[in-house]
This record gives sequence, C-alpha cells and structure tokens, in this order.
Amino acid sequence: MNAVPATAAPRLRPMTLHDVDAVGAIEASAYGFAWTRGNFIDSLAASHLAEVLEDERVIGYFVALPGVDEMHLLNITIAPHRQGQGHGTRLLDAVAAHASVRGLPRLWLEVRASNERAMALYVRRGFVVVGRRRGYYPAAEGREDAILMSRSVAAPSA
Ligand SMILES: CC(C)(COP(=O)(O)OP(=O)(O)OC[C@H]1O[C@@H](n2cnc3c(N)ncnc32)[C@H](O)[C@@H]1OP(=O)(O)O)[C@@H](O)C(=O)NCCC(=O)NCCS
Repeated sequence: MNAVPATAAPRLRPMTLHDVDAVGAIEASAYGFAWTRGNFIDSLAASHLAEVLEDERVIGYFVALPGVDEMHLLNITIAPHRQGQGHGTRLLDAVAAHASVRGLPRLWLEVRASNERAMALYVRRGFVVVGRRRGYYPAAEGREDAILMSRSVAAPSA
C-alpha cells in the first residue's frame, strides 16, 4: 500500500500579529486593490474579530467588526490556489456562528459589483442585496460601485 502523506485538517484560529506577513502575501495575490499589512495590524489593534484558516500554512482569513446588534464583514479571502474547495463557505459560516453566539442578529458586507463569484457565495449563504454604494472602491479606471448585502442570523439553538 502506498504511504499517503498526512495532511492536517484545516482549522480556524484567531489571527495574530505573527500572521500578518502570510496574510498580507495572500491579500496581495488575491486583489488588485489589496489591504496593506498596516490595515491588518490596525484591525488587530482595534480588536476586530479576525481568524485564519490554516493547515500546513495559512489558507485564508476573515476580518469582521462586531457592532451593537450587527456584524460587518470587512474582509474574507482564500489564497487563489486554494479557492473552490469550500474554504470560503467555511469562513462565512464561521462569521455567522460568531454573530449568533454574540447575539448579533444581522450580518452586513460590501462586495465589488464585478465580483460575481463572491456574490454567488453570499447568496448561497442567505445574503440579499440591500443597496449600492456608488464609486465605493478604487478601480483600474476610475471607481467601482459596492453592492451592499445583508442576511439575518439565527440565535444559537438551545
Ligand atoms: C470569494 C472567496 C472568498 C470564496 O472562497 P472559496 O474558497 O473559493 O469559496 P468556496 O470554495 O466555498 O465556494 C466557491 C465555489 O467552490 C465550490 N465548492 C465548494 N466546496 C467545494 C469542494 N469541496 N470542492 C470543489 N468545489 C467546491 C462552490 O460550489 C463554489 O462554486 P462556484 O465556483 O460556482 O462559486 C474566494 O474566491 C476569494 O478569496 N476571492 C478573492 C477575494 C474576494 O473576492 N473576496 C471577497 C471580497 S467581498
């Protein structure tokens, strides 16, 4: 029987300052207009909710801002070569679970109007379009609109 190398199952854990280099590298490879390392450092300093998904290395991450009765998803990213394997869905479900446990009944996010793949994922996970922010993002030529999406979050089951 051929020996198959053991692959650690991806697990979620809090993002720390030690992750900023790996996260920053994924970020730069995933977006034309990426967050800087400083954006992640600022988010951690501001105690935003931030987690990484990793096996042998960091696969992806999210950053979210909990509010009084809502959670705003600020960043969700999977390394390009690890996309399409369910990891983004897992991160999104983790954000919703955090909101549920904290008693925050609504999730919000903005997504580029051209980012059909991410929007399809959000719709599959119950988000609906609730608005449009004109010229919200920088773009190669001028600015690009953001689509504002929202979904409700159920309270944790007893
Ligand atoms: C958007 C993003 C986070 C989604 O992450 P992902 O890991 O690719 O998402 P998933 O794998 O969970 O779902 C995406 C697709 O994989 C499919 N999929 C899910 N599980 C799968 C599996 N086990 N095997 C194969 N395909 C699978 C899904 O059906 C879905 O199909 P689609 O190609 O029609 O969209 C990721 O593409 C990304 O980081 N993009 C760049 C950054 C970005 O745009 N972030 C969002 C900004 S608002």
